[in-house]
Amino acid sequence: MEKKIRKAIFAGSFDPITNGHLDVICRASKLFDELQIGVLYNPNKKGLFNFDERVKLIEECTSHLGNIKVVSFNGLLVDYCGDNGIDTLVRGIRSGADVEYELQMAHMNKELNPNIETIILPTSTKYSFISSSLIKEVLAFNADIKNLVPDIVLKELKRKANRGEKICM
Ligand code: PNS
Repeated sequence: MEKKIRKAIFAGSFDPITNGHLDVICRASKLFDELQIGVLYNPNKKGLFNFDERVKLIEECTSHLGNIKVVSFNGLLVDYCGDNGIDTLVRGIRSGADVEYELQMAHMNKELNPNIETIILPTSTKYSFISSSLIKEVLAFNADIKNLVPDIVLKELKRKANRGEKICM
């Protein structure tokens, strides 16, 4: 019998990808044959990085893992999963504060498509305070964030700052 490929998706906005995201991605990639990173495409929301920049940064940060596919989606995540043979959603939690929101999303997604399971991975403690929003907030005040984002992201952030681009949330 042909072996079924186990596919999961880790979805988010990734504006930009952080060391916390990368930690969850590295660990989840070991649990599945293919881990898709689903970048939410929202043309109405102007972030710090445009959609193509976010995708490129994620691709560069994860190329060493070998089983990552970076994809875009809009609309319901469970619909994307249903259309693409994915039956597992991966989410990370940093602290108790995330648990309530993640449970709510997991239950809603289960209601929307009972065939899809959510797996929640606790972020490593050293990354438990990192969020893309907080990074942008402190960056706007020129804080040193070198321990919080992958090197390639840091390089792009510096390039934006040198070009005088405004750090927008
Ligand atoms: O970066 P985030 O905010 O953690 O990502 C949240 C995301 C994009 C995974 C979530 O908002 C989502 O799945 N959005 C797509 C629309 C959808 O399916 N909404 C129902 C969620 S229960």
